[in-house]
Amino acid sequence: MIRGMLHFDANLLDPEVEAQVDELLAKLSLREKIGQMVQIHVHDGNVEASLELIAGGHVGSVLNYYEASKLNRLQRAAVEESAAGIPLLFANDVIHGYRTIFPIPLAISCTWDPELAQEAARIAAEEATADGTHWTFAPMVDIARDPRWGRIAEGAGEDPFLGAAMARAQVQGFQHDNLESGRRLVACAKHFAAYGAVEGGKDYNTVDLSERTLRDVFLPPFKAAFDAGAGAVMSAFNEIAGVPCTANAFLLQTILRDEWGFQGLVVSDWDAVGELIAHGCAADLREAAALSAGAGIDMDMASNAYRQHLEQLVAEGAMPAAVIDLAARRILRQKCILGLFEQPYVDKSRAAHSFLRPEFRAKALEVAHKSIVLLKNEGDLLPLDRAVRRLALIGPLADDHHEILGTWHRIGRDEDAESVLDGLRAVLPETEIICVRGSNVLESEPAGVGAAVQAVSASDVVVMVLGEAETMSGEAHSRAYLGPPAPQMQLLQAVYEATTQGPQAKRQPLVVVLMSGRPLVIPWLATHIPALVQAWHGGIRAGRAIADVLVGNVNPSGKLTATWPRAEGQIPIYYAHKSTGRPVTGPGVRQFDEAFRSHYIDEENSPQFPFGYGLSYTSFRYEGLQVETPVVDLDGEVVVSAMVRNVGRRAGDEIVQLYVHDLVAEVTRPVKELKGFQRVSLTAGEERRVRFAIPVQELGFYGLDMAYHVEPGQFQVWIGPASSSGLEGSFTVRDT
Ligand code: NOJ
Repeated sequence: MIRGMLHFDANLLDPEVEAQVDELLAKLSLREKIGQMVQIHVHDGNVEASLELIAGGHVGSVLNYYEASKLNRLQRAAVEESAAGIPLLFANDVIHGYRTIFPIPLAISCTWDPELAQEAARIAAEEATADGTHWTFAPMVDIARDPRWGRIAEGAGEDPFLGAAMARAQVQGFQHDNLESGRRLVACAKHFAAYGAVEGGKDYNTVDLSERTLRDVFLPPFKAAFDAGAGAVMSAFNEIAGVPCTANAFLLQTILRDEWGFQGLVVSDWDAVGELIAHGCAADLREAAALSAGAGIDMDMASNAYRQHLEQLVAEGAMPAAVIDLAARRILRQKCILGLFEQPYVDKSRAAHSFLRPEFRAKALEVAHKSIVLLKNEGDLLPLDRAVRRLALIGPLADDHHEILGTWHRIGRDEDAESVLDGLRAVLPETEIICVRGSNVLESEPAGVGAAVQAVSASDVVVMVLGEAETMSGEAHSRAYLGPPAPQMQLLQAVYEATTQGPQAKRQPLVVVLMSGRPLVIPWLATHIPALVQAWHGGIRAGRAIADVLVGNVNPSGKLTATWPRAEGQIPIYYAHKSTGRPVTGPGVRQFDEAFRSHYIDEENSPQFPFGYGLSYTSFRYEGLQVETPVVDLDGEVVVSAMVRNVGRRAGDEIVQLYVHDLVAEVTRPVKELKGFQRVSLTAGEERRVRFAIPVQELGFYGLDMAYHVEPGQFQVWIGPASSSGLEGSFTVRDT
């Protein structure tokens, strides 16, 4: 008996493509159709065995294998040697660039610039398709509210509204219109669903959350990706409330197909079909195959369950042949849309002139510039005086060309990357730069601290570059302690002491640049270090981008898209939390200040740095909030505006944010929800009225009946520079 068997709906599709698919399906045997549903991992060590499987018609797709000529060789086996001659679909993790490595996705989201995210994805598609890839396992659209989870690096942070905007943009970038040219990369929204909600932030762990939170918080970026035309979706490793996503007909059928009408293909995550055994809901691989295919997984990534068991299951009547037909149809549909039957091979000469083009490198620099977040700048220490004679550059990441690329950099190369040292040399040609590593990322260097302290005494200013190695975030790299590792803290404290000794006039200003794949927990740094720059893992141009920011060639403008906690014990911490029945009455309130409220006895509720936060070398003043529609109909638009003025002495970009709060509803609503944002550029002294028009229909939630609706009544609204501050007004949604 197969639980959660899917049912079938007629799909509204392009009749020409469907006719082509019908014709193909009519020619395929059951075994060949099942072959389409199999995705294998090829590497240089198993090519011969893979070629045999491919020629035998047992493979529909290959993952994680690169290079035009190698892929063409596999393709030849499929097209020229297999009986049916169906081309393979080549899939890879093209996550933040292919050869031109951009900042990690979390950093890209800190630009709050979906157009830029779209351009980065388009460039990735340009390079990846030139090398033979057809399909990327991106965008990763998981909402992440737990920085312990290493995969927070791969997404757009904690907010569904921003997450949806970034998801849409990336899909449009990967799948840009140029269908015929072979430059379109099929996008795959992942991981469906709620993977970011793993307990304790531990990768692959259990998820148990309400259907309302699933729908309100975790699903909107997926919906946005599909509305933008994403051709595929990947099921998540985790279970939700006892049902693994890879065997979850509620997700894969009810929501995805019945409610959303998704026509694309569903692939499992790596061996996730086989993992149903470890989850404890399938006794063996045969049952695992039956459960996943029955729930709606069209393609089995790397577990071999479909190849080994589906045919037999159909023969025994345990699996309707229609399930196989439908899955094969969805896979063939993508192959037809890509034009693989007309052009299965990639022109080998394309890669050479497609990689690392000057305009791609320039775009990577622009993204890196805009993703950097200035966290602290006491006494306007930054930007640095360009006339500085001697600069000490200290830390394991100061002259690093590798960690800077971040998780999932795949074919990205260290030699393509600029380190911070490279960048500073380029922007400060007259300055003597004394670069000392001082420590490794995770282990101390015996003579490191002494050398670093010496460099301090020989310098006029100190820049330290600290943080995480690329392998400290991303898949399977969850952490329980989120500060810079101990050896780096020891180095930092020694350098700090060296910069705070002696007469004031001789003390060297200290700037810390942080690189990481997640929000860090840095209470000591936030208190003691006067200037803090968060640079993430910024890709091949990060070193230059950081240098540009340090000397003021570029005014930083990035803002955080995931909250930075004060302590790991506050996690999960996110701005869009609920009020509770016992909210604290103000910031900084702790137990004993005010008893029996929802707070800790030993830490504030407020984060170190809130969602939406980021400083600039100039300042922006917000005034004159106007709610232009104090009463608005359910089918109307709320129009709210505010004057934003650059009151500093430099030009700068400000990310203006709009939040709402539905004051009373049949189910409790978050204290604030992002509903609009705009990046505006203002010269010194310039002011602009920034106007938002928000469709009232975007202010809804899943109610008691688990249907989406907007509840009439009063809303608060804020326009401001971060989730923690802003001008406040209100409006009423009228029942019409
Ligand atoms: C496992 C990861 O969870 C997924 O994100 C990735 O796309 C696949 N492996 C393929 O590499």
